[in-house]
Amino acid sequence: MITTSDLTKVYRSRGREVTALDGVSLHVRPGEVYGVIGRSGAGKSTLIRCLNLLERPTSGTVTVDGQDLTALAGSGNRAPRPLRLARSGIGMIFQHFNLLSSRTVQGNVELPLEILGLSRRDRARKALELLDLVGLADKAGVYPARLSGGQKQRVGIARALAGDPKVLLSDEATSALDPETTRSVLSLLRDLNEQLGLTVLLITHEMDVVKAVCDSAALMEKGRIVESGAVSDLLATPGSRLARELFPVGGDLSAGDRTVVDITFHGESTGRPVISRLSRAYDVDVSILGAAMDTVGGRQVGRMRIELPGRAEDNVVPIGFLREQGLTVELPGDPPAGRADVVELSGEGA
Ligand SMILES: Nc1ncnc2c1ncn2[C@@H]1O[C@H](COP(=O)(O)OP(=O)(O)OP(=O)(O)O)[C@@H](O)[C@H]1O
Ligand SMILES: [Mg+2]
Repeated sequence: MITTSDLTKVYRSRGREVTALDGVSLHVRPGEVYGVIGRSGAGKSTLIRCLNLLERPTSGTVTVDGQDLTALAGSGNRAPRPLRLARSGIGMIFQHFNLLSSRTVQGNVELPLEILGLSRRDRARKALELLDLVGLADKAGVYPARLSGGQKQRVGIARALAGDPKVLLSDEATSALDPETTRSVLSLLRDLNEQLGLTVLLITHEMDVVKAVCDSAALMEKGRIVESGAVSDLLATPGSRLARELFPVGGDLSAGDRTVVDITFHGESTGRPVISRLSRAYDVDVSILGAAMDTVGGRQVGRMRIELPGRAEDNVVPIGFLREQGLTVELPGDPPAGRADVVELSGEGA
C-alpha cells in the first residue's frame, strides 16, 4: 500500500547539509498497522512528510495505493491539483492535533470537505457520521478548547478520515496523552483499521505503542531503517534489537561458572511449562533473572532471562532442548561474531 524506494532527503541550510533520510526503502502492506520507531532526530517526521509530499524528497520514489506520488509535480500545502487529489487519499494526524480554535468540532471536521467542494448539507452529514465513528457525536457543536486531549485527537482522526482515505499517517499522535487516553486512541485506530480496512503508518518513540497495535515495525537510526519486519517475526529472530527493546528482560549477565540464556516465547510455546520440564529432564537448577510477558496482536509473547549452572559448553544439551521446544534461544554473554548490521525480515515484494 505504501512503498518507498531508496528515499533520501538532504536539508541544506546556511551552507550546512543534514541528511535526514538516507536510502529508506519501506514496504507497508494493505490493511496493516505499521510502526516506525526511533530516537529524536532519527528522521521519522521527515519520512512522514515525504510520504505525502508535504516535502519533496531529494531522491527516491514514494508509491501510495499504486500511484507514484513523486512523479506528480509540486509539494507542500499549495501543490497543484493532481497531487492534492492524490493526497486526499492519505489522512494525517498530528501530535498537537492542529485544530482551529475558532471553529466548532463539526466545523473542524468539515474543513477538508469544504476544500473537496462538498455542499453544505453533504458536509454536515459526513462530519456527523465521522464524529459518530470516533465516539464524539454529542460534541459536534462544542469548541476545541472545551475538549480533553483525547477528545481533541479523536476530532483530529475524524478530520483525517474526511476524504475517505485508504491510508492514515500518524506522527506521534499519542505522545501528548496520558497512558489511559493513549490506549483508547490506539484502540480507536485499531478499530478503524479493522472496520474500514485502513492502512495505518504510525510514528512513535514509545515501544508500548508498537506492542499495543502494530502488525509490523521498523527501527530508524540516523535516517536509515536498521531493522524491519512483522512483529511476530522480529520476536522469533535472534539478535533482533526491536525484539529486545519491545521485551527488555533486565537481569545481570553474571560472570563465572554460569550460563545466561535469553529465551523468547511466541506462538504455541507460550503455553507450555518449558522451564519446569527442562529442570526435571536434566536435573538442573534454573534461576530466572528477568522476564517480560505481554500480548501482541492478541497472542501472548514474552522473553525471559534464565541462568544455568556451568559454562555454555556444559549446557549444550539443555540449550538444545529449549530450541527443540520452538523457543528462540540466545546467549547474551556470547555475542555472535559478525552479526549483520541490518536485519531485513519483511516479506519483500509482498
Ligand atoms: N526543515 C529542516 N531543515 C533542516 N534540517 C531539518 C529540517 N527538518 C528536520 N531537519 C533535521 O533532520 C533530522 C531528522 O529530523 P526529524 O524531525 O525527521 O526527526 P524525528 O525522528 O522526527 O525526531 P523527533 O522524535 O524529535 O520528532 C534532524 O537532524 C533535524 O535536525
Ligand atoms: Mg518528529
